[in-house]
Amino acid sequence: GERDAQYVISHIRTIPGFPKEGILFRDFMPVLADAKALKLLVDALEQTLPVPLDSFDAIAGLEARGFLFGPILATRLGKGFLAVRKAGKLPPETISESYDLEYGTAAVEVETDLVKPGMRVLIVDDLIATGGTAKAAADLIRRAGGSVVGFSFIMKLDGLNGLEQLGDVPSSTLVTMP
Ligand code: PRP
Ligand code: HPA
Repeated sequence: GERDAQYVISHIRTIPGFPKEGILFRDFMPVLADAKALKLLVDALEQTLPVPLDSFDAIAGLEARGFLFGPILATRLGKGFLAVRKAGKLPPETISESYDLEYGTAAVEVETDLVKPGMRVLIVDDLIATGGTAKAAADLIRRAGGSVVGFSFIMKLDGLNGLEQLGDVPSSTLVTMP
């Protein structure tokens, strides 16, 4: 309900000027640190899946913050978890996809053989800003032989049109923030 949503949202804090001037950094670590907020968060993600439970085979989480709740959600839903890492962290063989960030450039990688041919993947992350990270992750999964059936975010930043970068794939977000 609304009170539960407010309880979770009240545990998201904002740090202006990190990692650089002009950015309002949204930090959801206090949600994870609070037992009730963490449970309500995972409940909400489970209840607002963008696609039916039987329409995906695995959850892919984006480093670093998609790693913090992706496996919890995967366990709840009876799915496996794929780690989409920042470049240079995984032993070969990987596929790599580079992208632009609000505050820099980066590349993401996945272990090629873990994405099975035709595997249907739901991508999760804490936040979508420009959409660059999520789009790169989706392109990566597709190049590895999978298909991306949905995106689930906790937060969406208003005014950056991040979701528009993701094509026709359904998405869900729990909260929109300035
Ligand atoms: C943040 C956030 C998303 C991404 C969203 O991660 O957790 O992954 O930025 O931005 P975008 O929509 O503009 O691409 P960050 O790049 O700060 O990396 P980290 O979680 O490893 O610190
Ligand atoms: N706030 C604003 N912009 C961002 C963030 C954030 O936490 N992460 C990536 N881009």
